[in-house]
Amino acid sequence: MPATSLTRSSGKKKSLVKKVNSEKEKTRVSKTSEEISKNLIKGLKLPIVYSPSSPEKADLKHLTNWIKKNQKEIQRDLLIYGAILFRGFNIGSSENFEKVALGLDSNLSEAYLGTSPRDKKTKFVHTASELPSAYPIMQHAEMSFLNKPPKKLFFYAKVAPSKNGETPITDLRTVLREMPSHISDKVEKQGIKYIRHYDGPGASRYSLWKTKPWNEMFKTIDKKEAEKEIKKQDFDHEWLPGNKLRLINSQVGVRKHPISGSKAWHNHSQTFHIDSPRLEYQYVFKRQKTLRGLGVYLILSLLTGIKKLFSKSEDLDVHATYGDGSEISNKDIKTIIGVFWKNIQIFSWQKDDILYIDNYSVSHGRLPFVGPREIQVAWTE
Ligand SMILES: [Fe+2]
Repeated sequence: MPATSLTRSSGKKKSLVKKVNSEKEKTRVSKTSEEISKNLIKGLKLPIVYSPSSPEKADLKHLTNWIKKNQKEIQRDLLIYGAILFRGFNIGSSENFEKVALGLDSNLSEAYLGTSPRDKKTKFVHTASELPSAYPIMQHAEMSFLNKPPKKLFFYAKVAPSKNGETPITDLRTVLREMPSHISDKVEKQGIKYIRHYDGPGASRYSLWKTKPWNEMFKTIDKKEAEKEIKKQDFDHEWLPGNKLRLINSQVGVRKHPISGSKAWHNHSQTFHIDSPRLEYQYVFKRQKTLRGLGVYLILSLLTGIKKLFSKSEDLDVHATYGDGSEISNKDIKTIIGVFWKNIQIFSWQKDDILYIDNYSVSHGRLPFVGPREIQVAWTE
């Protein structure tokens, strides 16, 4: 597919893409064609795929050297496309994945205040999510509810699923542009308010609506230590009976990219909304017509109905409202999820794939799966 077909955006970005494309055409036949070829997966706008141009260029040392020498070009591609897939390289281990990630960005971080239970693999590498395989993970920018979300993310296919279990991605700049203005104006003006309830030490890590226990998030069972981080993150908190914790915070819902200045939809509104899992599964079920999928959808619908009937919205395990505290209606959430699914890009994992994401431009999620799958993650500051 010609590089120009990637262009799909506003004037400023169009001219930047055009300029980069013409430069890319020049480099394609010179330096990069000898080392790395760049393509798109058929039918997809994202990610741009970097592959070794010959088998001898696939080894780790060659890749890390190439990254060192071509940082400018890589960062330019990342700025434009928002996602780069390194495919066909011999990575082989979490340690080597970490080496590649460090080569791409030396500011890797260990701090994780997100909601998925994760297992540590190396200093900077964790499993992406230990949530059960039937759970859908909705599109989100990593930790968008924090003051300073990570700028970049890396996913690594240690064990690629044989079927399903994709990590779909979506261009958040497009999502913002295509969001109906009665929603995007409100989100941009008011931001999003998040209310989360956490169980304490000893509780299950695997609940669909609730996040992992607070001791796992704050890496301590000491409430005073947890409070230090809570204060640092500007969360309001309340300790509840049974060692439970309520966190409330407001955050912007649209962010400007720190380098390009382009605006993107940047919040967890649909990820933390009570109606989302059920609505998300309607789309999932269209792709994965399985008996389990139907069962999960019916159970989700039933549980959502019961929860909405018997719980006040502010007491739900996780909840998101507009910044002024007004509810995001079921209709609005349906629209938001619809815009994501109109633009979602889904590709199958191959073993040793590394997906490099600009967290200010592109979201990610996870589709349900059956069988072995191990996707690992690292992120920057
Ligand atoms: Fe995530």
